Amino acid sequence: MEKNMLFLTPDQECKKQFTEMMDSVLQAVTDAMDHGKAYAGMAPFELRETLRTDDLLPAEGVGFEAVLAEMKKNILPNLVRPMSTDYMAHLHCASLVESIAAELVIAAFNQSMDSWDQAPAATEIEVEVIRNLCRIYGYGENSDGVFTSGGSQSNLSGLLLARDWFCNEKLNYDIKKYGLPAEFPKFRLYASEISHFSMEKSTHLMGMGYNAVAKVPVDDRMKMDISVLKKMLKADVEAGLIPFCVCATVGTTDFGSIDPLKELRAVCDEYGMWLHADAAYGSGVVLSERYADRVSGLSECDSITVDFHKMFMLPISCSASLIRDKKYFDALTLHADYLNREEDEEEGYINLVNKSMQTTRRFDALKVWISFRMRGRKGWSELITGSVDNAAYFYKQLKKLSCVEVMVEPEISSVVFRVLPDAGSGEDADTMNKRIRRHLMHKCGTVIGQTVCRGNVCLKFTLLNPLITPAKLDELIALIVSLR
Ligand SMILES: Cc1ncc(COP(=O)(O)O)c(C=O)c1O
Repeated sequence: MEKNMLFLTPDQECKKQFTEMMDSVLQAVTDAMDHGKAYAGMAPFELRETLRTDDLLPAEGVGFEAVLAEMKKNILPNLVRPMSTDYMAHLHCASLVESIAAELVIAAFNQSMDSWDQAPAATEIEVEVIRNLCRIYGYGENSDGVFTSGGSQSNLSGLLLARDWFCNEKLNYDIKKYGLPAEFPKFRLYASEISHFSMEKSTHLMGMGYNAVAKVPVDDRMKMDISVLKKMLKADVEAGLIPFCVCATVGTTDFGSIDPLKELRAVCDEYGMWLHADAAYGSGVVLSERYADRVSGLSECDSITVDFHKMFMLPISCSASLIRDKKYFDALTLHADYLNREEDEEEGYINLVNKSMQTTRRFDALKVWISFRMRGRKGWSELITGSVDNAAYFYKQLKKLSCVEVMVEPEISSVVFRVLPDAGSGEDADTMNKRIRRHLMHKCGTVIGQTVCRGNVCLKFTLLNPLITPAKLDELIALIVSLR
């Protein structure tokens, strides 16, 4: 390959070389799929030593072929493979094939989504994708949204709009201009005790600190306990605290449990609070014809976090922050002469930076556009339904075993359980479950999750991959039980 080739240009020779380069990468990637397991097994110290790079910037570059050879030897074989049916550890998905093609287009053209002049067609596609998503989630004409880097940023964006809305509308105070009001140490955000830690991270970043998150206990289905929330709100208001927002988790990280959205809407209306839905996980359920009603309450939330790099199986990063009333995006709008002049919008140039915390931003909406258009409602419904059905099957099989305790019946596609030792085995349950997970990862190439539930170490299957079959699940159950 020509050593000095920089970019893909109209030059015929350049196009030829670029195609050869991509072909060799494609070959390397497809070859690396051959062993099929989720992880090759190397332990951390050994892998660190293998990948130690003392000469990252050699005096003379080694050239692309040499770098590709190095990558093939040591990096590709030691990556985890979320596309393997032996991978079920986290809310970390495989990339649908069409979205890998989309990533090539995204990188090749490198559109920057902050202003129309840096991304004309890309801006219009993001606007269309967002318009369709709002409809899918049951939002009306005034809704809007923006793509973000992930669920954490989408949550921060939703909670920030909630805070600013509250200050403007309830305290008649312009927080955007003057910063936090004097009352801010009394502000409270209510989220379940098993909500994602981006709640605390967000309140910290918003200047309120972790203490602003009031943790509401969950019931035995791992859903926010509304009766306790009501008691907490009453007591907090009497104590002079200021509830401004409830965050419902629609698919908790470990259990996939869904907080009761309709009841939460009523509570928020009673107390004049914003209802944010962290549907980073559960947002995918909307596409399952069989299970969509489990998340139908999303349409009643003021803002929704949707993650496409979880149930939707699109490559990292890909997330959206949706808002029921677009006027609240004003909290994130600031004009710069060089970028998003006010007159642009009047003349029809949409600058998406007006809704975004990021300035430079990726054209991630293309992945959703390609994949939704390509597979359609039917194709998508089958994928999502397959994952939810798998979890229901796995739960049913585990429940038959006396040596297994399952923590809760799944609502989406995660199952948390622990294996129990025989009396007198000499090993306690926590140690045994930790040992089994490590063994699976390093000796069997199977990567599963681990968490703590009700004080006990548990194993976790996050079943995002619809290629996993009931027979595969039976095989894994037998393997786990044999490792007791
Ligand atoms: C419920 C929930 N919300 C938010 C997040 C954060 O999403 P991200 O990792 O895309 O920032 C996660 C991550 O797993 C999650 O499980």
